[in-house]
Amino acid sequence: MKKRLAVLISGNGSNLQALLDASFTQGEIILVVSNKRNAYGLQRAEKKGVETFIPDKENYDVSLYEKLMNAKLDGIVLAGYLKIIDKKLIGAFENRMINIHPSLIPSFCGRGFYGERVAQAVLEYGVRYTGVTTHFATELADEGPIIFQEVVAVNPDDTVETLSKRVLEIEHQIIVKSVEYFCNDALEVQGRHVLIGA
Ligand code: GAR
Repeated sequence: MKKRLAVLISGNGSNLQALLDASFTQGEIILVVSNKRNAYGLQRAEKKGVETFIPDKENYDVSLYEKLMNAKLDGIVLAGYLKIIDKKLIGAFENRMINIHPSLIPSFCGRGFYGERVAQAVLEYGVRYTGVTTHFATELADEGPIIFQEVVAVNPDDTVETLSKRVLEIEHQIIVKSVEYFCNDALEVQGRHVLIGA
């Protein structure tokens, strides 16, 4: 049986697109959720015939929780979802909720570090390398067991735009790879460590 996955987004959804374009032998994206009604990613999902959902604003956490539980999901992917997730939902998907972050965690992550703000901070700090991390989500932002990381070199003439673009291209590869391993039951969490199987 293919794993049933939901992808949560807040904006453009280029990582979602990478997932929609990938063909997973052991998984399928059955639902895309956005906290923003005008997120372009919703159109990407609709084009592929995938159900979309925007939680009720007045009752956000309950509405989201019920929708995701009723969908009988095996896993959730946070692909540029820029909203804090309620503890109850995190608990229900322990080691089954994958987040992608545009830096090498634990650098340039946590509250306030999202989207292009990360590239801005990387350039201001002057690090030579940054990258991409996928990890299982826990109650603390960008903190859970790391699945994959990939390094991206920072060039002396990089701008927020050029660096973000290069990082994003790597994100698209890493997110697909992470979901593929998850769907193949090839990620085993042992404390802070994720053992990668075949
Ligand atoms: C991506 O760079 C993703 O890593 C980042 O938001 C962007 C969404 O782009 N997520 C975070 O910063 C989470 N802390 P996309 O909508 O084009 O996939």
